[in-house]
Amino acid sequence: MKANELPVVVEAKPVEFDSPPLPQGDSCVAVIFGATGDLTRRKLVPALFHLACIGCTSNQFMVLGVARNELSQEVFREQIRKGLTESKDGKLSDADWQRLAPRLHYLSGELDDPGTYNKLRARLAELEADGDTGSNRLFYFATPPSLAPKIVDGLDAAGLADEEKGWTRVVIEKPFGHDLASAHALNEKLAQVFDEDQIYRIDHYLGINTVQNILVFRFGNSLFEPVWNRNYVDYVEITAAESIGVGSRAGYYEQAGALRDMVANHLLQLVALTAMEPPVAFDANSVREEKVQVWRSLQRMTFDEIAKRTVRGQYGSGAIDGELVPGYRDEHGVSGGSLTETFVALEFQIENWRWAGVPFYVRTGKRLAQPLTEIAVHLKRTPQALFARTPNEQINPNVISLRIKPDEEITLAFGAKYPGSEMRTANVHMEFCYRTAFNSPPPSAYETLLLDIMRGDATLFTRADGVEAQWKVINPIKDAWAEQRPKDLPNYAAGSAGPAMADQLLARNGHRWSDLTEGFDRCEKQNEPEQ
Ligand code: BG6
Repeated sequence: MKANELPVVVEAKPVEFDSPPLPQGDSCVAVIFGATGDLTRRKLVPALFHLACIGCTSNQFMVLGVARNELSQEVFREQIRKGLTESKDGKLSDADWQRLAPRLHYLSGELDDPGTYNKLRARLAELEADGDTGSNRLFYFATPPSLAPKIVDGLDAAGLADEEKGWTRVVIEKPFGHDLASAHALNEKLAQVFDEDQIYRIDHYLGINTVQNILVFRFGNSLFEPVWNRNYVDYVEITAAESIGVGSRAGYYEQAGALRDMVANHLLQLVALTAMEPPVAFDANSVREEKVQVWRSLQRMTFDEIAKRTVRGQYGSGAIDGELVPGYRDEHGVSGGSLTETFVALEFQIENWRWAGVPFYVRTGKRLAQPLTEIAVHLKRTPQALFARTPNEQINPNVISLRIKPDEEITLAFGAKYPGSEMRTANVHMEFCYRTAFNSPPPSAYETLLLDIMRGDATLFTRADGVEAQWKVINPIKDAWAEQRPKDLPNYAAGSAGPAMADQLLARNGHRWSDLTEGFDRCEKQNEPEQ
């Protein structure tokens, strides 16, 4: 909140809702390739188990982990149990663990060895004979993108792609390929073996409740959509700031960098949901069609424009929450001279009727001052400074913020009159906080998405043309950056708001990023009892 702004506490009273009936996913065997990885332990199994605990999937469902490590079933289960205790999404009671642990299985094998898939076929036959899974099979590729084509070949050769008795669905984690050519090749490979409606390209941002709410906010209310265009919007700012560093993922991150890791998928999804036209229906193809149109409308930047409208950065050492942290180049597994970007800021222009001339600024980075993920829509100033000759602070333009982190909330900044006889104005905030308003935590993103896969609903997944349209936006930037080696890295300190160049990117148009060093704890404040 800026110095001249006051909070207006708009009551977000817990409302009594009749909880809607829990949706049911089909029973299945979830085969997870890459089962000893972080994602399986921290996200996938906790989400699947939680779904089973709340009754969204049959207790007959099973998980079969596949990875190269030679592990016994017991050791695998122990690893998963450890993940469950560490995961904030997956707290399980002992009784639930005792009930669900026998549903966890493990098979070791190299994923590029056809023999692995023959063993898998035999194992699936055994498991399906034991439990009621409807012979439905969900194959989850929690692996680096380079392994995906090999897994598709393996499944095909072993006859595991068929849908003889139940359904077969494949789930491909991001990043989908590492550039346009590899994404296109993977799409072609998948299409040789599976129908498009069997393929689920996952982006966990789409499972986040507030992200889905963007469509409800825009198209379920007549209040906002009339101003949601170039006539009223000055600029849009999309931020995904993290205070964590690269952690134990240097091997992957050194190849990916922030552009591929965050912009090519999560942030382009947020751009599309903010900018898209209303779909003709809320179904998978209508929604996905409109999103693809946005990515197609993003202006292709020339080499010179890329130099002017994109900023990359890398963190040096610094302090986060008072604790000293190393710079990126000193992280375990990172090369001393690494040029990998851990921060990106860029300006997109959308060349269509609704958005022509409205900049969409996007930024993301690791080791920034604090976590903040939000879309801020800045409206234009009023046409006349009506109150300028009164004893006033300036009334700032309205800002609608759709916040995803640290708390899921929506705020509206507007001007109001101070109480008193003088005509004096202040900038105030109206707030809606999910947690306090609905009085129940939203499900984790992976829970939502896994349940959708088990129900056969692909609305929140990216279509083949969607991922290629995303790479068409990213490829020119990636190529231009490869030719212009940055000389100033590291260029921001851990714990700061990112490189100064990112501020200049907006300042040249008279715009400003939300201040990453201010507090974002409004939801918490609303929960505090009155003094
Ligand atoms: C992942 C990226 O897709 O998203 C990570 O690979 C990033 O680098 C993460 O930290 C951010 O997602 P969330 O849900 O933790 O904000």
